[in-house]
Amino acid sequence: MDNFVMVIFGASGDLTKRKLMPALFSLFKDKRLYGRFSVLGVSRTAYTDEEYRRYISEQMHLFVKAEERKEEELQEFIAHLHYQSLDPAKAEGYVGLRERLKELAHTDTPDNLLYYLATPPSLYGVVPQHLKAAGLNTKGSRIIVEKPFGYNLESAVELNHIYASAFEEHQVYRIDHFLGKETAQNVLAFRFANGIFEPLWNRRYIDYVEVTAVENLGIESRGGFYDQAGALRDMVQNHLIQLVALVAMEPPSKFNADYFRNEVAKVYDSLRPFSGTDFAEHVVRGQYIAAGDKKGYREEQGVDPLSRTETFVAMRLNIDNWRWSGVPFYIRTGKQMPTKVTEIVVHFKEAPLQMFRGECSVRPCPNRLTLRIAPNEGIAMKIGMKVPGSGFNVRQVSMDFSYDELVDAKPITDGYARLIDDCIQGDPTLFTRSDATEASWKFFDPILKYWQEHGDAHLYGYPVGTWGPRESDKLMHDHKAEWTNPCKNLTNTDLYCEL
Ligand code: BG6
Repeated sequence: MDNFVMVIFGASGDLTKRKLMPALFSLFKDKRLYGRFSVLGVSRTAYTDEEYRRYISEQMHLFVKAEERKEEELQEFIAHLHYQSLDPAKAEGYVGLRERLKELAHTDTPDNLLYYLATPPSLYGVVPQHLKAAGLNTKGSRIIVEKPFGYNLESAVELNHIYASAFEEHQVYRIDHFLGKETAQNVLAFRFANGIFEPLWNRRYIDYVEVTAVENLGIESRGGFYDQAGALRDMVQNHLIQLVALVAMEPPSKFNADYFRNEVAKVYDSLRPFSGTDFAEHVVRGQYIAAGDKKGYREEQGVDPLSRTETFVAMRLNIDNWRWSGVPFYIRTGKQMPTKVTEIVVHFKEAPLQMFRGECSVRPCPNRLTLRIAPNEGIAMKIGMKVPGSGFNVRQVSMDFSYDELVDAKPITDGYARLIDDCIQGDPTLFTRSDATEASWKFFDPILKYWQEHGDAHLYGYPVGTWGPRESDKLMHDHKAEWTNPCKNLTNTDLYCEL
Protein backbone atom coordinates (compact mmCIF):
# COMPACT_ATOMS: atom_id res chain seq x y z
CA MET A 1 0.00 0.00 0.00
CA ASP A 2 3.00 2.25 -0.39
CA ASN A 3 1.30 4.88 -2.51
CA PHE A 4 -2.10 4.70 -0.91
CA VAL A 5 -3.61 7.92 0.43
CA MET A 6 -7.02 8.21 2.03
CA VAL A 7 -8.37 11.75 2.08
CA ILE A 8 -11.06 12.49 4.65
CA PHE A 9 -13.14 15.60 3.94
CA GLY A 10 -14.74 16.69 7.20
CA ALA A 11 -11.65 15.67 9.17
CA SER A 12 -12.48 17.70 12.26
CA GLY A 13 -16.11 16.54 12.42
CA ASP A 14 -18.00 14.10 14.58
CA LEU A 15 -18.03 11.13 12.21
CA THR A 16 -14.28 11.24 11.74
CA LYS A 17 -13.45 11.10 15.41
CA ARG A 18 -16.22 8.73 16.49
CA LYS A 19 -16.22 6.24 13.64
CA LEU A 20 -13.67 6.70 10.88
CA MET A 21 -10.47 7.01 12.88
CA PRO A 22 -11.36 4.11 15.23
CA ALA A 23 -12.22 2.03 12.12
CA LEU A 24 -8.92 2.89 10.44
CA PHE A 25 -7.04 2.10 13.62
CA SER A 26 -8.70 -1.29 13.82
CA LEU A 27 -7.72 -1.98 10.17
CA PHE A 28 -4.18 -0.90 11.02
CA LYS A 29 -4.03 -3.32 13.97
CA ASP A 30 -5.32 -6.12 11.71
CA LYS A 31 -2.58 -5.29 9.18
CA ARG A 32 -5.19 -4.34 6.58
CA LEU A 33 -3.45 -0.96 6.37
CA TYR A 34 0.29 -1.33 6.14
CA GLY A 35 3.41 0.02 4.48
CA ARG A 36 3.81 3.70 3.67
CA PHE A 37 0.11 4.60 3.49
CA SER A 38 -1.18 8.02 4.58
CA VAL A 39 -4.45 9.40 5.86
CA LEU A 40 -4.92 13.05 4.98
CA GLY A 41 -7.49 14.94 7.02
CA VAL A 42 -9.03 17.88 5.22
CA SER A 43 -11.28 20.59 6.65
CA ARG A 44 -11.42 24.32 7.31
CA THR A 45 -9.96 24.25 10.82
CA ALA A 46 -6.36 25.48 10.84
CA TYR A 47 -4.34 22.56 12.22
CA THR A 48 -0.75 21.67 11.52
CA ASP A 49 0.01 17.95 11.05
CA GLU A 50 1.23 17.82 14.64
CA GLU A 51 -1.84 19.53 16.05
CA TYR A 52 -4.14 17.25 14.10
CA ARG A 53 -2.30 14.16 15.33
CA ARG A 54 -2.60 15.39 18.89
CA TYR A 55 -6.32 16.08 18.43
CA ILE A 56 -7.03 12.63 16.95
CA SER A 57 -4.88 10.97 19.60
CA GLU A 58 -7.03 12.58 22.31
CA GLN A 59 -10.24 11.53 20.55
CA MET A 60 -9.02 7.95 20.24
CA HIS A 61 -8.70 7.81 24.00
CA LEU A 62 -12.39 8.67 24.16
CA PHE A 63 -13.72 6.55 21.33
CA VAL A 64 -11.58 3.40 21.37
CA LYS A 65 -11.90 1.13 24.40
CA ALA A 66 -8.79 0.97 26.58
CA GLU A 67 -8.43 -2.80 26.09
CA GLU A 68 -8.41 -2.32 22.30
CA ARG A 69 -5.78 0.39 22.30
CA LYS A 70 -2.12 -0.20 23.08
CA GLU A 71 -0.40 3.15 23.29
CA GLU A 72 2.55 2.14 21.15
CA GLU A 73 0.35 0.79 18.36
CA LEU A 74 -1.85 3.87 18.54
CA GLN A 75 1.12 6.21 18.14
CA GLU A 76 2.39 4.14 15.19
CA PHE A 77 -0.98 4.62 13.54
CA ILE A 78 -1.16 8.32 14.39
CA ALA A 79 2.17 8.85 12.64
CA HIS A 80 0.41 8.05 9.33
CA LEU A 81 -1.97 11.01 9.76
CA HIS A 82 -1.51 14.31 7.97
CA TYR A 83 -3.62 17.40 7.66
CA GLN A 84 -4.45 19.99 5.02
CA SER A 85 -6.53 22.99 5.87
CA LEU A 86 -8.89 23.91 3.04
CA ASP A 87 -12.48 24.91 2.46
CA PRO A 88 -13.90 21.98 0.46
CA ALA A 89 -16.55 24.29 -1.00
CA LYS A 90 -13.97 26.49 -2.75
CA ALA A 91 -12.03 25.45 -5.84
CA GLU A 92 -8.80 27.26 -4.95
CA GLY A 93 -7.68 24.84 -2.23
CA TYR A 94 -7.68 21.81 -4.55
CA VAL A 95 -4.48 22.80 -6.32
CA GLY A 96 -2.69 22.71 -2.98
CA LEU A 97 -4.39 19.40 -2.28
CA ARG A 98 -2.99 17.95 -5.50
CA GLU A 99 0.53 18.99 -4.52
CA ARG A 100 0.09 17.48 -1.08
CA LEU A 101 -1.10 14.20 -2.57
CA LYS A 102 1.96 14.00 -4.80
CA GLU A 103 4.15 14.42 -1.78
CA LEU A 104 2.29 11.85 0.34
CA ALA A 105 1.97 9.29 -2.45
CA HIS A 106 5.65 9.76 -3.42
CA THR A 107 4.74 10.16 -7.08
CA ASP A 108 3.84 12.93 -9.52
CA THR A 109 0.80 10.94 -10.60
CA PRO A 110 -0.98 9.79 -7.45
CA ASP A 111 -3.72 7.35 -8.36
CA ASN A 112 -4.26 4.97 -5.46
CA LEU A 113 -6.53 7.45 -3.71
CA LEU A 114 -9.61 7.06 -1.58
CA TYR A 115 -11.76 10.11 -0.83
CA TYR A 116 -14.19 9.97 2.07
CA LEU A 117 -16.93 12.59 2.25
CA ALA A 118 -17.68 12.96 5.95
CA THR A 119 -18.93 16.50 5.38
CA PRO A 120 -22.37 18.07 5.68
CA PRO A 121 -24.56 16.72 2.84
CA SER A 122 -24.58 20.14 1.16
CA LEU A 123 -21.00 19.42 0.02
CA TYR A 124 -21.69 16.01 -1.53
CA GLY A 125 -22.25 17.56 -4.95
CA VAL A 126 -19.51 20.16 -4.70
CA VAL A 127 -16.44 18.10 -3.79
CA PRO A 128 -16.51 15.71 -6.78
CA GLN A 129 -16.75 18.65 -9.17
CA HIS A 130 -13.72 20.32 -7.60
CA LEU A 131 -11.81 17.02 -7.61
CA LYS A 132 -12.58 16.69 -11.30
CA ALA A 133 -11.53 20.24 -12.09
CA ALA A 134 -8.22 19.67 -10.29
CA GLY A 135 -7.65 16.39 -12.17
CA LEU A 136 -7.92 14.39 -8.96
CA ASN A 137 -10.66 12.06 -10.24
CA THR A 138 -8.03 9.63 -11.48
CA LYS A 139 -8.90 6.19 -12.87
CA GLY A 140 -7.64 4.37 -9.79
CA SER A 141 -9.33 6.63 -7.26
CA ARG A 142 -12.51 5.80 -5.31
CA ILE A 143 -14.91 8.00 -3.42
CA ILE A 144 -17.07 7.10 -0.41
CA VAL A 145 -20.15 9.27 0.14
CA GLU A 146 -22.09 9.28 3.38
CA LYS A 147 -25.85 9.21 3.60
CA PRO A 148 -28.33 10.77 3.09
CA PHE A 149 -27.48 10.64 -0.60
CA GLY A 150 -29.78 13.41 -1.79
CA TYR A 151 -32.55 15.26 -0.06
CA ASN A 152 -35.30 13.85 -2.25
CA LEU A 153 -35.60 12.04 -5.57
CA GLU A 154 -34.73 15.06 -7.67
CA SER A 155 -31.57 15.92 -5.75
CA ALA A 156 -30.48 12.26 -5.66
CA VAL A 157 -30.81 12.06 -9.45
CA GLU A 158 -28.85 15.29 -9.76
CA LEU A 159 -26.13 14.00 -7.43
CA ASN A 160 -25.89 10.78 -9.42
CA HIS A 161 -25.35 12.87 -12.56
CA ILE A 162 -22.59 14.85 -10.89
CA TYR A 163 -20.83 11.68 -9.74
CA ALA A 164 -21.25 10.08 -13.15
CA SER A 165 -19.61 13.12 -14.75
CA ALA A 166 -16.52 12.79 -12.54
CA PHE A 167 -16.21 9.07 -11.79
CA GLU A 168 -17.21 5.69 -13.20
CA GLU A 169 -19.99 4.02 -11.19
CA HIS A 170 -17.53 1.36 -9.94
CA GLN A 171 -15.51 4.15 -8.29
CA VAL A 172 -18.46 5.52 -6.30
CA TYR A 173 -19.20 3.93 -2.92
CA ARG A 174 -22.46 5.16 -1.34
CA ILE A 175 -22.06 3.96 2.19
CA ASP A 176 -24.80 2.67 4.49
CA HIS A 177 -23.02 1.51 7.62
CA PHE A 178 -25.87 -0.86 8.54
CA LEU A 179 -24.71 -3.13 5.72
CA GLY A 180 -21.27 -3.25 7.30
CA LYS A 181 -22.72 -4.79 10.45
CA GLU A 182 -21.89 -8.48 10.79
CA THR A 183 -25.40 -9.25 11.87
CA ALA A 184 -26.96 -7.54 8.85
CA GLN A 185 -24.71 -9.64 6.63
CA ASN A 186 -25.70 -12.64 8.68
CA VAL A 187 -29.28 -12.26 7.47
CA LEU A 188 -27.90 -13.28 4.09
CA ALA A 189 -25.95 -16.19 5.55
CA PHE A 190 -28.99 -17.31 7.52
CA ARG A 191 -31.20 -17.28 4.46
CA PHE A 192 -28.85 -18.46 1.76
CA ALA A 193 -26.45 -20.82 3.56
CA ASN A 194 -29.29 -22.90 5.05
CA GLY A 195 -31.58 -24.91 2.84
CA ILE A 196 -34.35 -25.37 5.37
CA PHE A 197 -35.66 -21.81 5.60
CA GLU A 198 -36.11 -21.03 1.91
CA PRO A 199 -39.29 -23.11 1.49
CA LEU A 200 -40.86 -21.20 4.40
CA TRP A 201 -39.66 -17.75 3.40
CA ASN A 202 -42.73 -16.50 1.59
CA ARG A 203 -46.35 -15.42 1.76
CA ARG A 204 -47.59 -18.94 2.46
CA TYR A 205 -45.84 -19.24 5.81
CA ILE A 206 -44.98 -15.72 6.87
CA ASP A 207 -47.68 -13.52 8.35
CA TYR A 208 -45.80 -10.24 8.68
CA VAL A 209 -42.33 -8.84 9.23
CA GLU A 210 -41.21 -6.10 11.63
CA VAL A 211 -38.05 -4.05 11.21
CA THR A 212 -37.14 -1.84 14.14
CA ALA A 213 -34.14 0.47 14.59
CA VAL A 214 -34.71 2.70 17.61
CA GLU A 215 -32.43 4.55 19.99
CA ASN A 216 -32.60 5.84 23.55
CA LEU A 217 -30.66 8.97 22.69
CA GLY A 218 -31.88 12.25 21.27
CA ILE A 219 -30.20 14.10 18.45
CA GLU A 220 -27.23 15.11 20.63
CA SER A 221 -25.26 17.92 19.01
CA ARG A 222 -26.67 17.37 15.50
CA GLY A 223 -29.66 19.72 15.70
CA GLY A 224 -28.66 21.76 12.67
CA PHE A 225 -28.42 18.71 10.41
CA TYR A 226 -31.28 16.75 11.92
CA ASP A 227 -33.88 19.48 11.82
CA GLN A 228 -33.41 19.68 8.05
CA ALA A 229 -33.29 15.92 7.59
CA GLY A 230 -35.70 14.15 9.98
CA ALA A 231 -36.00 10.45 10.66
CA LEU A 232 -37.23 9.52 7.21
CA ARG A 233 -34.12 10.82 5.49
CA ASP A 234 -31.76 9.93 8.32
CA MET A 235 -32.79 6.32 8.91
CA VAL A 236 -35.69 5.05 6.82
CA GLN A 237 -34.74 5.85 3.23
CA ASN A 238 -31.40 4.07 3.69
CA HIS A 239 -30.82 1.89 6.79
CA LEU A 240 -34.31 0.54 7.34
CA ILE A 241 -35.15 -0.12 3.74
CA GLN A 242 -31.79 -1.82 3.30
CA LEU A 243 -32.71 -4.24 6.10
CA VAL A 244 -36.07 -4.84 4.41
CA ALA A 245 -34.18 -5.68 1.22
CA LEU A 246 -32.02 -8.26 3.01
CA VAL A 247 -35.13 -10.05 4.25
CA ALA A 248 -37.14 -9.71 1.06
CA MET A 249 -34.63 -10.14 -1.76
CA GLU A 250 -34.45 -13.18 -3.98
CA PRO A 251 -31.29 -15.27 -3.68
CA PRO A 252 -28.75 -13.82 -6.10
CA SER A 253 -27.47 -16.51 -8.43
CA LYS A 254 -23.90 -15.46 -7.61
CA PHE A 255 -22.64 -13.51 -4.62
CA ASN A 256 -20.99 -10.58 -6.28
CA ALA A 257 -21.66 -6.86 -6.47
CA ASP A 258 -23.79 -6.89 -9.61
CA TYR A 259 -25.95 -9.86 -8.80
CA PHE A 260 -26.47 -8.85 -5.18
CA ARG A 261 -27.31 -5.25 -6.00
CA ASN A 262 -29.64 -6.27 -8.82
CA GLU A 263 -31.76 -8.14 -6.28
CA VAL A 264 -31.76 -5.22 -3.83
CA ALA A 265 -32.94 -2.85 -6.57
CA LYS A 266 -35.72 -5.27 -7.52
CA VAL A 267 -37.10 -5.16 -3.97
CA TYR A 268 -37.22 -1.36 -4.05
CA ASP A 269 -38.89 -1.46 -7.43
CA SER A 270 -41.55 -3.80 -6.02
CA LEU A 271 -42.57 -1.53 -3.14
CA ARG A 272 -46.19 -0.58 -3.66
CA PRO A 273 -46.30 3.23 -4.01
CA PHE A 274 -48.41 5.07 -1.45
CA SER A 275 -51.38 6.96 -2.77
CA GLY A 276 -54.61 8.56 -1.57
CA THR A 277 -55.37 7.74 2.06
CA ASP A 278 -52.23 5.57 2.47
CA PHE A 279 -50.18 8.59 3.57
CA ALA A 280 -52.45 9.18 6.54
CA GLU A 281 -53.29 5.55 7.27
CA HIS A 282 -50.05 3.68 6.66
CA VAL A 283 -47.49 6.19 7.88
CA VAL A 284 -47.22 7.55 11.43
CA ARG A 285 -44.79 10.26 12.35
CA GLY A 286 -43.93 11.58 15.78
CA GLN A 287 -41.65 13.95 17.61
CA TYR A 288 -40.34 13.43 21.12
CA ILE A 289 -41.57 15.78 23.80
CA ALA A 290 -40.18 16.56 27.23
CA ALA A 291 -40.71 14.06 30.04
CA GLY A 292 -39.20 14.14 33.51
CA ASP A 293 -35.88 15.93 33.32
CA LYS A 294 -35.39 15.10 29.62
CA LYS A 295 -35.97 17.87 27.15
CA GLY A 296 -38.17 17.59 24.12
CA TYR A 297 -36.95 17.80 20.53
CA ARG A 298 -38.01 21.44 20.12
CA GLU A 299 -35.83 22.42 23.08
CA GLU A 300 -32.71 20.87 21.54
CA GLN A 301 -29.91 23.13 20.38
CA GLY A 302 -30.09 24.04 16.69
CA VAL A 303 -33.76 23.05 16.39
CA ASP A 304 -36.55 25.42 15.40
CA PRO A 305 -38.82 25.84 18.46
CA LEU A 306 -41.82 25.25 16.18
CA SER A 307 -40.19 22.47 14.22
CA ARG A 308 -42.41 19.82 12.61
CA THR A 309 -39.47 17.54 11.85
CA GLU A 310 -40.18 13.91 12.68
CA THR A 311 -37.98 12.02 15.13
CA PHE A 312 -40.12 8.89 14.81
CA VAL A 313 -41.57 7.15 11.79
CA ALA A 314 -43.52 3.92 11.55
CA MET A 315 -45.04 2.61 8.37
CA ARG A 316 -46.60 -0.34 6.71
CA LEU A 317 -45.03 -1.41 3.43
CA ASN A 318 -46.29 -3.82 0.83
CA ILE A 319 -43.99 -5.60 -1.55
CA ASP A 320 -45.84 -6.48 -4.70
CA ASN A 321 -44.19 -9.60 -5.97
CA TRP A 322 -44.97 -13.30 -5.95
CA ARG A 323 -43.02 -14.02 -2.79
CA TRP A 324 -44.43 -11.25 -0.61
CA SER A 325 -47.80 -10.19 -1.94
CA GLY A 326 -50.13 -9.75 1.06
CA VAL A 327 -47.35 -9.86 3.69
CA PRO A 328 -47.01 -6.45 5.36
CA PHE A 329 -43.60 -5.20 6.42
CA TYR A 330 -43.92 -2.89 9.42
CA ILE A 331 -40.91 -0.68 9.90
CA ARG A 332 -40.15 1.93 12.55
CA THR A 333 -37.38 4.13 13.81
CA GLY A 334 -37.25 6.69 16.58
CA LYS A 335 -35.07 8.76 18.85
CA GLN A 336 -35.48 8.90 22.64
CA MET A 337 -37.19 5.55 22.97
CA PRO A 338 -36.88 3.26 26.01
CA THR A 339 -33.85 1.40 24.67
CA LYS A 340 -31.49 1.04 21.72
CA VAL A 341 -32.33 -1.92 19.56
CA THR A 342 -32.13 -2.87 15.91
CA GLU A 343 -33.86 -6.09 15.01
CA ILE A 344 -35.92 -7.88 12.43
CA VAL A 345 -38.78 -10.05 13.62
CA VAL A 346 -40.34 -12.52 11.20
CA HIS A 347 -43.78 -13.66 12.36
CA PHE A 348 -44.86 -17.00 10.92
CA LYS A 349 -48.47 -17.97 10.46
CA GLU A 350 -50.16 -19.94 13.20
CA ALA A 351 -50.60 -23.70 13.08
CA PRO A 352 -53.96 -24.31 11.40
CA LEU A 353 -55.37 -26.05 14.45
CA GLN A 354 -54.52 -25.71 18.15
CA MET A 355 -55.13 -29.09 19.69
CA PHE A 356 -53.18 -28.67 22.93
CA ARG A 357 -53.89 -26.81 26.14
CA GLY A 358 -51.68 -24.33 27.91
CA GLU A 359 -50.44 -20.89 27.04
CA CYS A 360 -50.83 -21.46 23.33
CA SER A 361 -54.51 -22.37 23.49
CA VAL A 362 -55.53 -19.10 25.14
CA ARG A 363 -53.53 -16.73 23.00
CA PRO A 364 -51.89 -17.09 19.64
CA CYS A 365 -48.43 -18.66 19.74
CA PRO A 366 -47.14 -18.43 16.22
CA ASN A 367 -43.47 -19.12 15.61
CA ARG A 368 -41.36 -16.02 15.60
CA LEU A 369 -37.83 -15.56 14.35
CA THR A 370 -35.84 -12.63 15.69
CA LEU A 371 -32.70 -11.53 13.89
CA ARG A 372 -30.98 -9.25 16.39
CA ILE A 373 -28.75 -6.78 14.57
CA ALA A 374 -27.69 -4.92 17.75
CA PRO A 375 -27.19 -5.17 20.67
CA ASN A 376 -27.02 -8.83 21.90
CA GLU A 377 -26.26 -9.77 18.32
CA GLY A 378 -27.80 -13.12 17.52
CA ILE A 379 -30.84 -15.06 16.43
CA ALA A 380 -33.77 -16.38 18.45
CA MET A 381 -36.64 -18.62 17.44
CA LYS A 382 -39.82 -18.92 19.45
CA ILE A 383 -41.36 -22.35 19.34
CA GLY A 384 -44.14 -24.11 21.23
CA MET A 385 -42.91 -26.89 23.56
CA LYS A 386 -44.67 -29.32 25.81
CA VAL A 387 -44.51 -28.42 29.47
CA PRO A 388 -43.17 -31.51 31.32
CA GLY A 389 -45.82 -33.35 33.30
CA SER A 390 -49.23 -34.84 32.73
CA GLY A 391 -51.42 -33.85 29.80
CA PHE A 392 -50.34 -31.76 26.83
CA ASN A 393 -49.72 -28.23 27.93
CA VAL A 394 -47.81 -26.22 25.38
CA ARG A 395 -45.80 -23.12 26.13
CA GLN A 396 -43.57 -20.90 24.01
CA VAL A 397 -39.83 -21.10 24.57
CA SER A 398 -36.90 -19.50 22.85
CA MET A 399 -34.08 -21.21 20.97
CA ASP A 400 -31.37 -18.63 21.12
CA PHE A 401 -27.99 -18.11 19.51
CA SER A 402 -25.83 -15.22 20.62
CA TYR A 403 -22.66 -14.05 18.89
CA ASP A 404 -20.98 -13.83 22.31
CA GLU A 405 -20.94 -17.63 22.31
CA LEU A 406 -18.50 -17.76 19.39
CA VAL A 407 -15.33 -18.06 21.42
CA ASP A 408 -12.98 -17.90 18.47
CA ALA A 409 -14.58 -14.81 16.88
CA LYS A 410 -13.36 -11.24 17.21
CA PRO A 411 -15.63 -8.69 18.88
CA ILE A 412 -18.20 -7.15 16.57
CA THR A 413 -17.24 -3.72 15.28
CA ASP A 414 -19.73 -1.19 14.02
CA GLY A 415 -19.37 -1.77 10.31
CA TYR A 416 -17.19 1.12 9.20
CA ALA A 417 -13.94 -0.86 9.30
CA ARG A 418 -15.39 -3.63 7.17
CA LEU A 419 -16.80 -1.21 4.61
CA ILE A 420 -13.68 0.92 4.31
CA ASP A 421 -11.67 -2.26 3.87
CA ASP A 422 -14.05 -3.47 1.14
CA CYS A 423 -13.65 -0.15 -0.63
CA ILE A 424 -9.86 -0.33 -0.42
CA GLN A 425 -10.09 -3.83 -1.91
CA GLY A 426 -12.39 -2.48 -4.65
CA ASP A 427 -15.44 -4.53 -3.63
CA PRO A 428 -18.66 -2.47 -3.87
CA THR A 429 -21.09 -5.31 -2.99
CA LEU A 430 -22.15 -3.79 0.33
CA PHE A 431 -22.53 -0.27 -1.01
CA THR A 432 -25.61 1.24 -2.62
CA ARG A 433 -25.70 1.49 -6.39
CA SER A 434 -27.08 4.58 -8.12
CA ASP A 435 -30.25 2.86 -9.36
CA ALA A 436 -31.08 1.56 -5.87
CA THR A 437 -30.72 5.05 -4.35
CA GLU A 438 -33.12 6.42 -6.91
CA ALA A 439 -35.57 3.53 -6.57
CA SER A 440 -35.65 4.02 -2.82
CA TRP A 441 -36.17 7.78 -3.16
CA LYS A 442 -38.88 7.17 -5.72
CA PHE A 443 -40.81 5.30 -3.06
CA PHE A 444 -40.19 7.68 -0.13
CA ASP A 445 -40.29 11.01 -1.94
CA PRO A 446 -44.12 11.15 -2.15
CA ILE A 447 -44.30 10.83 1.65
CA LEU A 448 -42.06 13.85 2.10
CA LYS A 449 -44.09 15.75 -0.46
CA TYR A 450 -47.31 14.82 1.31
CA TRP A 451 -45.98 16.16 4.62
CA GLN A 452 -44.76 19.29 2.91
CA GLU A 453 -48.05 19.94 1.15
CA HIS A 454 -50.23 19.07 4.16
CA GLY A 455 -48.94 21.25 6.94
CA ASP A 456 -51.68 19.85 9.17
CA ALA A 457 -50.79 16.18 8.56
CA HIS A 458 -50.65 14.45 11.94
CA LEU A 459 -47.46 14.83 13.91
CA TYR A 460 -47.78 13.07 17.25
CA GLY A 461 -45.84 14.12 20.32
CA TYR A 462 -44.51 11.12 22.25
CA PRO A 463 -42.86 11.52 25.64
CA VAL A 464 -39.16 10.72 25.88
CA GLY A 465 -38.74 7.12 27.00
CA THR A 466 -41.86 5.71 25.30
CA TRP A 467 -42.30 3.49 22.25
CA GLY A 468 -43.53 6.36 20.11
CA PRO A 469 -47.05 7.50 19.25
CA ARG A 470 -49.87 5.12 20.13
CA GLU A 471 -51.04 5.54 16.55
CA SER A 472 -48.10 3.35 15.52
CA ASP A 473 -49.74 0.47 17.42
CA LYS A 474 -52.99 1.13 15.63
CA LEU A 475 -51.12 0.85 12.34
CA MET A 476 -50.87 -2.87 12.99
CA HIS A 477 -54.21 -3.53 14.57
CA ASP A 478 -56.20 -4.25 11.44
CA HIS A 479 -53.76 -7.10 10.98
CA LYS A 480 -54.06 -8.13 14.66
CA ALA A 481 -50.31 -7.57 14.83
CA GLU A 482 -48.22 -5.99 17.58
CA TRP A 483 -44.78 -4.43 17.77
CA THR A 484 -42.27 -6.53 19.62
CA ASN A 485 -41.09 -4.19 22.37
CA PRO A 486 -38.23 -5.62 24.40
CA CYS A 487 -39.08 -3.48 27.45
CA LYS A 488 -41.82 -1.24 28.79
CA ASN A 489 -42.27 2.52 28.46
CA LEU A 490 -40.07 4.36 30.92
CA THR A 491 -42.25 7.44 31.12
CA ASN A 492 -45.69 8.48 32.18
CA THR A 493 -47.71 7.95 29.02
CA ASP A 494 -50.41 10.52 29.90
CA LEU A 495 -48.21 13.14 28.29
CA TYR A 496 -48.98 12.07 24.70
CA CYS A 497 -50.30 14.90 22.54
CA GLU A 498 -50.71 16.05 18.99
CA LEU A 499 -48.34 18.74 17.75
C1 BG6 B 1 -26.82 7.14 11.53
C2 BG6 B 1 -27.86 8.18 11.81
O1 BG6 B 1 -26.72 6.88 10.17
O2 BG6 B 1 -27.16 5.95 12.23
C3 BG6 B 1 -27.97 8.44 13.31
O3 BG6 B 1 -27.50 9.38 11.15
C4 BG6 B 1 -28.20 7.16 14.04
O4 BG6 B 1 -29.02 9.36 13.58
C5 BG6 B 1 -27.19 6.10 13.64
O5 BG6 B 1 -28.07 7.44 15.42
C6 BG6 B 1 -27.54 4.75 14.24
O6 BG6 B 1 -26.52 3.85 13.92
P1 BG6 B 1 -26.11 2.68 14.91
O7 BG6 B 1 -25.07 1.91 14.19
O8 BG6 B 1 -25.62 3.32 16.16
O9 BG6 B 1 -27.38 1.91 15.15
